[in-house]
Amino acid sequence: MRPTEPFRREHEALLEHIDHLPQAAREMPELSEEERDLLRRRVLDFLRGTLLPHAKAEEDVLYPEWAALVGFADAAVPMVHDHEGIVARIERLEAADVSDIDTLQELLYGLYALISVHFRKEEDLQLPAFDAAPDVAERVLARMSAATGDGHKH
Ligand SMILES: [Fe+2]
Ligand SMILES: [Fe+2]
Repeated sequence: MRPTEPFRREHEALLEHIDHLPQAAREMPELSEEERDLLRRRVLDFLRGTLLPHAKAEEDVLYPEWAALVGFADAAVPMVHDHEGIVARIERLEAADVSDIDTLQELLYGLYALISVHFRKEEDLQLPAFDAAPDVAERVLARMSAATGDGHKH
């Protein structure tokens, strides 16, 4: 088992929710405004309650540790830019008028694309460096779990 397997499983659990974003986008035109607002609320609860704490823990723990491993202080800056792009879309989704189906759909599809590609970058670019340094990986994953309250919460 790779040292980062628990982190990869956490991503898989998050992706089960992320995979619902395009489905929610497709459903929006068929729903009443009340149902649309409820669906948006469920999506936002997941994004704000589960995804953003995961991203925050990465910025506090995983990214600085990865930058140290690869020996370049700013290595994770583009990954933080992804997080900022995700947060900006979450805020727009929250602020959008519930009658504005085009905007709701644009943001849900955009969030899906950004988040799913971002996860792949973490898995393919960052996690292998930790798998090659199992001692560091163990310490970092323990700190990540502590930072999110529960590493496997979803
Ligand atoms: Fe991330
Ligand atoms: Fe992540």
